[in-house]
Amino acid sequence: MNPVELIRKKRNGGELTPDELRWIITAYVQDRLPDYQMSALLMAVFFRGMTDTETSTFTDLMLHSGAVIDLSGIPGIKVDKHSTGGVGDKVSLILAPMVAACGVPVPMISGRGLGHTGGTLDKLESIPGFRTDLSVEEYKKVIAEVGMVLIGQTKDVAPADRRMYALRDVTGTVESIPLISGSIMSKKLAEGIDALVLDVKTGDGAFMQSDADAEALASTLVRIGTMAGKTTVAFLTSMDQPLGMAIGNWVEVVESVECLRGKKVPDLMEVTLVLGGAMVMLGGKARSIEEGMALCQSAIWSGRAYEKFLEGVRRQGGATDVLEQPDRYPAPRFVEEILSPADGVVTHFQTRRIGVLAAELGAGRLRSDDVIEPKAGIMLLKKLGDPVRRGEPIARVMGDREGSFHRVAGDLARCIRCGPPEGTPRPTIGAVVDANGKRPWTTPIVH
Ligand code: URA
Repeated sequence: MNPVELIRKKRNGGELTPDELRWIITAYVQDRLPDYQMSALLMAVFFRGMTDTETSTFTDLMLHSGAVIDLSGIPGIKVDKHSTGGVGDKVSLILAPMVAACGVPVPMISGRGLGHTGGTLDKLESIPGFRTDLSVEEYKKVIAEVGMVLIGQTKDVAPADRRMYALRDVTGTVESIPLISGSIMSKKLAEGIDALVLDVKTGDGAFMQSDADAEALASTLVRIGTMAGKTTVAFLTSMDQPLGMAIGNWVEVVESVECLRGKKVPDLMEVTLVLGGAMVMLGGKARSIEEGMALCQSAIWSGRAYEKFLEGVRRQGGATDVLEQPDRYPAPRFVEEILSPADGVVTHFQTRRIGVLAAELGAGRLRSDDVIEPKAGIMLLKKLGDPVRRGEPIARVMGDREGSFHRVAGDLARCIRCGPPEGTPRPTIGAVVDANGKRPWTTPIVH
C-alpha cells in the first residue's frame, strides 16, 4: 500500500477499507510506517472522523495488534473502569483497591498523561519503585494473588495504542471520537475483563466539551463493548472543575490515600462510589448500584480498601513508607499561594487551562521525550460555590522548575474567577448510558 495515498484518501473524507486499516496498524507497530506519516493520518482522522464500521474495524485491529489476555482461569467476574480523561482525575487509584476489597477482581491497563489531562501510570510511577511494565505472566499472577493489577500498554499488550497514544499526546490529535474509542476499547478488551464501567467526561476540562459530543462518545464506547460481549455502562460526569483538590502526580496519590483512609472529598468520592457501586454490581456482588456503593463505602470505612491499595503497591514494587507518611517524600523547591481577588464565591474554573498549566509545571509532557516531575502540581483550596474573602488563599502551586514555575503561578490566578454567585454548579454525574440508551442519573444517598 502507498501510505501517502491512504493519508490523502482520509484527508479528502474517504472511508478506509478494513485492508487499508490493517495495513496502517500493522506497518506502524512493525516500524514500517514512520511517526510523521502516522501523525498526518491521525490529523486527517481528527478532521474527517470515521464511519461506525471504520471505528469498529480500527478498534479490533488495535486490540489484535498484541496479545488478548485470558483471565478465565481466575475466579470471579473481572470488571474494570476507564475514564476518557480529566483534570485531577485520580478515581482509579481509589476505585481499584476499593472494588477489589469488595471481592471483584480489577485488571486495569491505564494510560499516561494525555493532552491537558493526567494519566494513572504517571501518578502511580510517582510512588518510588512502582512498576507499571509487568509482563503478561506477572500481570496474571498479581491479579490472581491481590485481586487488582495496574499496568500500562506494553510491547505485547495493546502495542498499537502504546505508540499512537504517545504520538497523539504531542500532536494535538486527542479529541476525536474514533481515536479515543479505539484507544480505550483496545486496551480494555485486551486485559481479560468480563464487564466495563466508563467515566465519560464532559465540560471545559474534558476532551468532549459539549454534552452532545460526550453522549456520542459514550454511545460509541458502549456499542463497541456490547458488540465484544462485555456488559458496558458509561456515566457522563462533569469536568466543569477539576475533580477533587489535587492536580499533578504525587499530590494526586496523596489525595487518593487520604480518601482511602476516609477523607470525604465530595465530588471525587461521589464519582468513585458510583462507578465502584456499578462495578460491584456488574461483578455480581450486589443487586443494585446503590447496594454496591454501600459495600464500597464499608470497604473504605473498615480500612480494607486502604490495606488492599498498600498490598497492590507493595506487590508492584512500590514503597509504602511514603504513602503512610507523605512528609517523607521530597518537598518541591517552589510553592506559591494564589489569593482570591474578591469577596464572594468561586464562580468559574478554566479547567482545561489548569490542566495545561499543570503539564507546563512538569506534571505532563509537551514533547514525547519529556521527563515528568512528580512533585509538580496544583492544590485547589476552594471549589465552585465555596465562599471566599478577598486575599484568602484559593490555590497552591508547587514545582521544582524555576523556568516555568513563576509564569504558571501568575497564569493560574487568571484561571479561577471569584465574585458574586452566578447560579448553582451542575451535578457531578448527569446521566448513564448503557446498551438500552441514555437516562438521567441522580446519585442516591448511601448511609
Ligand atoms: N483515554 C485513553 O486511554 N485514550 C484516549 O484516547 C483518551 C482517554
